[in-house]
Amino acid sequence: MRRWAGQTKALQLCVVIGILSNFQPVASESESVVRKLLSSIVGSQTAERQLSTGPNAISCSADYKWASYLDRSYYFYEAQRSGALPADNRVKWRGNSCLNDTGPLGQDLAGGHYDAGDHLKMLFPYGTTTAILAWGVLEFNDGYTNSGNLATAMETLKWAAEYLMKAHLFKAQAAAKHNGFEQYVAAVGMARFDHAVWTRPEDLTTKRPAYLVDATKPSSDLLGGAAAGLAATSMVFKKSNSTFATKCLLQAQALYVFASNYEGKYSAYGIEQTYPSTTYLDDLAFAAAWMYKATGSYEYLEDAREYWDRSHKEDTDNPFVVWYWDNMIWAVDALLLSLPDPLPKYKYEMGFFFESWMQGWYGVSYTPSGLAWTSDWGPLRNAANAGLLANIYANKLMKTDPTEAAKLRCWAQKQLRYIVGDAGRSFVVGMGNNPPSHSHHRGASCPKRSDTCDWTTGYNPTTSNPHTLYGALIGGPHVDDSFKDTRDNFEQNEPALDFNAGYTGAFPL
Ligand SMILES: *[C@@H]1O[C@H](CO)[C@@H](O)[C@H](O)[C@H]1NC(C)=O
Ligand SMILES: *[C@@H]1O[C@H](CO)[C@@H](O)[C@H](O)[C@H]1NC(C)=O
Repeated sequence: MRRWAGQTKALQLCVVIGILSNFQPVASESESVVRKLLSSIVGSQTAERQLSTGPNAISCSADYKWASYLDRSYYFYEAQRSGALPADNRVKWRGNSCLNDTGPLGQDLAGGHYDAGDHLKMLFPYGTTTAILAWGVLEFNDGYTNSGNLATAMETLKWAAEYLMKAHLFKAQAAAKHNGFEQYVAAVGMARFDHAVWTRPEDLTTKRPAYLVDATKPSSDLLGGAAAGLAATSMVFKKSNSTFATKCLLQAQALYVFASNYEGKYSAYGIEQTYPSTTYLDDLAFAAAWMYKATGSYEYLEDAREYWDRSHKEDTDNPFVVWYWDNMIWAVDALLLSLPDPLPKYKYEMGFFFESWMQGWYGVSYTPSGLAWTSDWGPLRNAANAGLLANIYANKLMKTDPTEAAKLRCWAQKQLRYIVGDAGRSFVVGMGNNPPSHSHHRGASCPKRSDTCDWTTGYNPTTSNPHTLYGALIGGPHVDDSFKDTRDNFEQNEPALDFNAGYTGAFPL
């Protein structure tokens, strides 16, 4: 979980609380008390705030062709596939690539998905991305089925889960049962080599070293994310293919044991810092909650609660209300609330999360056109993830609090409609009103296969990408809605696997 640095509002409020009530937030063991105080003070200051020019400017009616957005989101995942492609791959401008990806002992590491517009394979965000994609399928199964997207969704999950399992290596077959000999792949490819070239994945000849971790490099965040992804995927396949479901679950169990026996952060060992992790406790809690859902074994539920408690002791102030690869704790709240005997503190924190998003607190600001905006990196991913969580929580509240459920759904719908262009421009490639056409994506920027692709023929031209990367959600606008659709604008205009994950599940189908 990431501390919310650089935001002064909450810090000032901590000071205010200190003065008003003589309360010592950092020393307190009860974070929820701090949050309650903060929340009531922020609330009293902003209760009159009118948002009529912001989120209310976009309609939240359900009349939208979301099914095609869902289909195209999976098309994006197909475009990101690495390794030998199946005959039914829909992205005709893609071919087999990086078939030589190997581990230090020659282990076959071909397959998986490229992380973003580049060609690294980054396993830390990949595990939780897989879990989020599976969560959408589990929670909104009727919508996936009725819109004709279930089979495609499952193919994507299978592709990802197979790689999460392939990345689990053993130094020797005989040592398979001994944790000390287990290894897991943290990354394939290295930014230093990979970012030095601009070409299509099919033509890559750069060095692609694999980074492995083992018990001497404890990596609970990486392994926890993979365990969660596999446990969630096993649930999706339970009815249709119990062989595959069991295989995923057994691997998830092994990874969970590995993750919880050896605590540590994968990014502490000099792996290039593309996705540095702040703590592993949120990932362990996320993994334990999914293990409980997939197995029903009570010990996992106890673990999830314990990791939740420990993560809150570690991080006592300045909540950063974003659910993304470095902070799973808000998703853990939602999971724990769906499991037996939920504690009031989970509900409180979940309420705090949504109130912050809807009111524009704790790092959330509204752009003039109505996006709930959090940072220059990945603001749309953040809003879409919050949207998915809102829909999931709304499902849970439907019977007990239909008014709140409707409010959450409406808010999520507005964020989605902003993303696809209701406020003036779409941020999803090939979809909606005025979509981006110059996204920072090597494969899509390259001319046809027989032509050379490099900085001159792929990156530099100011013309639109020759290939349309349908369904890719890109980074997103600045806080004033401004956005530059140029290929060099990787901050705003690059897609990524994790960007599309919450978005894919968030459609109100
Ligand atoms: C992959 O390995 C084969 C066999 O060693 C080699 O011939 C080929 O050039 C390699 N491909 C790339 C893209 O490095
Ligand atoms: C189930 O999964 C297994 C293992 O991945 C695969 O070999 C098999 O073809 C699948 N069966 C069906 C019916 O899809």
